[in-house]
Amino acid sequence: MGKTIRFGIIGCGLMGKEFASAAARWCHLTVQAARPEIVAVCDVNEASQKWFTDNFDTIQFTTTDYKELLKREDVEAVYCALPHLLHEQVYCDIIRAKKHLLGEKPFGIDQKANQKILEAIAQNPEVVVRCASEYPYFPACQELIRWVKNDKLGRIIEVKAGFNHASDLDIHKPINWKRTVRMNGEYGCLGDLGIHAEHVPFRLGWIPKNVYAVLSDIVTERPDGKGGMAACDTYDNGTMICQCADKDDNEFALYIETKRLEPGATSNWYLEVTGMDASVRFYSDDPNAFHYLYSEGKNQAWSRVNIGTKPLIPTITGDIFEFGFTDAILQMWAAFILEVEGKETAFGCFTPEETRISHALHTAALKSYQEKRAVELDLTPLPADSHNL
Ligand SMILES: NC(=O)c1ccc[n+]([C@@H]2O[C@H](COP(=O)([O-])OP(=O)(O)OC[C@H]3O[C@@H](n4cnc5c(N)ncnc54)[C@H](O)[C@@H]3O)[C@@H](O)[C@H]2O)c1
Repeated sequence: MGKTIRFGIIGCGLMGKEFASAAARWCHLTVQAARPEIVAVCDVNEASQKWFTDNFDTIQFTTTDYKELLKREDVEAVYCALPHLLHEQVYCDIIRAKKHLLGEKPFGIDQKANQKILEAIAQNPEVVVRCASEYPYFPACQELIRWVKNDKLGRIIEVKAGFNHASDLDIHKPINWKRTVRMNGEYGCLGDLGIHAEHVPFRLGWIPKNVYAVLSDIVTERPDGKGGMAACDTYDNGTMICQCADKDDNEFALYIETKRLEPGATSNWYLEVTGMDASVRFYSDDPNAFHYLYSEGKNQAWSRVNIGTKPLIPTITGDIFEFGFTDAILQMWAAFILEVEGKETAFGCFTPEETRISHALHTAALKSYQEKRAVELDLTPLPADSHNL
């Protein structure tokens, strides 16, 4: 039996289950990576702990108070998937308890909360902290990244990235915490979906200098699930146009769209990069396909190649078979564990520093929309004394 890392899960909802399921099929990986063992779970709603205790006999401890979980010496690392309002307090407490953390986006409900989390990280450098973002781990997306890194595109013309849903078009869908400013944050859909779209562009060095944003709150109330209606006060859709520069300092436009009202979309994550020599795109709607185009002559044609299962972190699955969402989750988890172990990964998880850029972008986007103008990103580094706060 190889090494294990003992995990606690805080937040036993949709994403808590995804992690637990990925941990349960760790044997799928053929790489040497410590196995996550779930030893403790926490949720304020006791009923949501049951699925975990029914399926994992490694769980020694359940609680409704996350501070009790953090006191346990057998918990070495935590996956935390809670509403955005709670990120600042709970992430800071996890980090100060010296547990490694994979936290969820947006990593703080706003920029101030994000800064507090980054300060806690700065004070506890021995703890490995990352933010969840799984879509870049689709093999076809990794192929896109290789094309960019290998300079096959020539001068960049434009980059378009997005994450779109359609389910909110159902106006009878009851409200949940993600549709309220109090719990989800003022960023609305940008905070909920933005990091997904930003991971690859940021990692490739495309950091926005400024942003012009158009945000829309189209569905302003929803059924409250108790027979009445409740205010749905978050932005449903957000489009950001940013000015970026490539490694040779040539400017190009980066479009980022995050939408809950995009007719026909079901978690459609996409990235398209056009260049003077070649262009590439990946859509999670066509999850096994990598699309490319050579910019030759007057007319061009897109080609589509089926990549299959050629993941970054090797698995038992034959490469002729399809790759899916839960495989991407497993890849992200393997990348996180390798980072905790201090091992090399070709594409690591979204970093705390990248969450800082994301918050600078979303904060500037809110200002841009309010003032109807392009706004520069404030990327001032944290104060030098933040280690000593
Ligand atoms: N990576 C992804 O693809 C992805 C997808 C969806 C959501 N998310 C993120 O995951 C996080 C959680 O979202 P979700 O969809 O799993 O939400 P969810 O509502 O399904 O689950 C949240 C859980 O937290 C519990 N909870 C609330 N307050 C708590 C507290 N004080 N202590 C302990 N438990 C508490 C709730 O009872 C609930 O079970 C959010 O940050 C969200 O942005 C990520």
